[in-house]
Amino acid sequence: MPDSADHSDPSGSLQWPLPQPLPADEAPLRLAVMASGEGSNFEALVEACAAGHLHGRVVVLAVNRERCGARIRAERLGIPCQVIDHRRQPSREALDQALIALFRGHRVDLVVMAGWMRIVTPVLIEAFPERLLNIHPSLLPSFRGADGVEQALAAGVTLAGCTAHLVTPQVDAGRILVQAAVPVLAEDDRERLHARIQRQEHRILPLAVRLAAERLAAGPGPPAQG
Ligand code: GAR
Repeated sequence: MPDSADHSDPSGSLQWPLPQPLPADEAPLRLAVMASGEGSNFEALVEACAAGHLHGRVVVLAVNRERCGARIRAERLGIPCQVIDHRRQPSREALDQALIALFRGHRVDLVVMAGWMRIVTPVLIEAFPERLLNIHPSLLPSFRGADGVEQALAAGVTLAGCTAHLVTPQVDAGRILVQAAVPVLAEDDRERLHARIQRQEHRILPLAVRLAAERLAAGPGPPAQG
């Protein structure tokens, strides 16, 4: 039997050279999460907050599928969850407007797309400038768009991974915040490789949220050159 254990992170803890913790006297970050699927990244964020890796609180989850796993996790974790079914919205922009109304109602500081399988429009992006993050299962800029894991396998790369980045109108092209690489093993299929990538997603996403918050706290940098 091939060994399916992940040996890259024996402690299972965050091992990054973490930046200084946010000052304890600051209010915890109010986070919103958007999910369409299982919600394992959503739960990882909730756990990171509970464990003190992140000075924040997930105040609301938005899902676009009534029966997705993320919604069940929200129930178990006691996090408010709103279903906004994209099929009931007249346009992508209308879906984004509904999300904005939800997030503003919860006075959200940062929004995390954690397996949100809809393309967002400038309506949402401009409502949360530098405050909208995404997690993608590839080492960007390789394998943007749908099914990054399958694309990596098809390309025959020996290193795959995940990227947490800021969201811009161009899909999967915003500023990279954190990445993690995982080896592609000979016996990997899409499911096995994705599971190994997801373990790293759960580690880097809380760190990316911290970095995004620290960028905001630091204020705008010098104007871009050229
Ligand atoms: C994650 O692997 C995430 O990278 C991917 O969906 C999965 C959601 O898992 N996102 C994309 O492919 C976006 N292009 P989860 O629901 O268990 O967090």
